Amino acid sequence: MSESPLLEVSDLTIEYRRGIHRVTAVSDVNFTIRAGRTLGLVGESGSGKTTIGRAILGLVPISAGRILFDGQDVSADAHRRRRREPGQIRAIFQDPYSSLNPSLPVAVSVAEEVPRSRRVRSEAFARLSDLFDRVGLPRAVAASYPARLSGGQRQRVAIARALMSDPSLIICDEPVSALDVSVQAQVLNVLKDAQRANSLSYCFIGHDLDVVRYMSDWIVVLYRGRVLEDGPAQTVARRPRHPYTQALVAASPELDRPAQPRPVRDPRPEPPRGGGCPFAPRCGFAEDRCWVELPPVHPAADGGHVACHRYDAAADTTAGVLL
Ligand SMILES: Nc1ncnc2c1ncn2[C@@H]1O[C@H](COP(=O)(O)OP(=O)(O)OP(=O)(O)O)[C@@H](O)[C@H]1O
Ligand SMILES: [Mg+2]
Repeated sequence: MSESPLLEVSDLTIEYRRGIHRVTAVSDVNFTIRAGRTLGLVGESGSGKTTIGRAILGLVPISAGRILFDGQDVSADAHRRRRREPGQIRAIFQDPYSSLNPSLPVAVSVAEEVPRSRRVRSEAFARLSDLFDRVGLPRAVAASYPARLSGGQRQRVAIARALMSDPSLIICDEPVSALDVSVQAQVLNVLKDAQRANSLSYCFIGHDLDVVRYMSDWIVVLYRGRVLEDGPAQTVARRPRHPYTQALVAASPELDRPAQPRPVRDPRPEPPRGGGCPFAPRCGFAEDRCWVELPPVHPAADGGHVACHRYDAAADTTAGVLL
């Protein structure tokens, strides 16, 4: 029916150790990314977005589940060895300062990403010039140091750097969150153009549902490390099925959307007891069972999922709604 996914994340659970305690940052997360497509990860601060991105990059050990990239298990060690080879996974972060060496002209940082097999100087230089054109950077910028560039220019350099080694997947972790709104759209469009030209896949991480919807084919909504809802981007952003996503949509003023009845309320002081829904303390619809039973993950007719006790797939007409 359809080709196998480029990236397959199954039952992913990640725990961090904090002193003698273990903090579960990600629980039972499932999604796939197909070649040339964008998967959006959205959720508030601390929901586990960066942790998932770092696990895909092989930078965080996995506690349970697995990540298959191009059919191969992504374990921290195996992956690190192959990082700069063509077709691999690269990353773009919110703050390009952290990935660009401040004491080197940006061209040097970008050229360092050329795969070993290609490191013939003239070829690298031609490729650098071509990439600067493609991300909309004047070639004169190549000799500049990162501090001399604007935030938007630095993020374009970071994109050029990520593209240099011909990756097939780029983890974009809040790549425009630190930029002025006027510059955000330009940088998002540079990413979109690069995707079209290279059949690239993105895992696009953001907290603004509107930005994530603009970039994504499929959206995964995270809350305290759990997937509360996923589905086609337009459905999740315009006809959210989970009360938490409804709250996110309500917080995103630019979307035209039907009014939603009281999806959130002030949190109750106590957390859910005995493994209830993580969102129960803030949910305006919470019933007794929501406090004690983790909701099942209900499949929706359009391939999405909703982890909510109140969701009734048979009564859901969302998938049939023309968006
Ligand atoms: N290195 C670490 N050690 C211990 N706990 C961590 C570590 N990194 C993240 N965490 C915890 O894991 C959880 C998820 O964090 P993560 O950074 O993945 O969230 P996020 O969704 O990217 O948030 P933000 O929107 O603020 O970037 C949080 O509770 C965070 O405190
Ligand atoms: Mg983060």
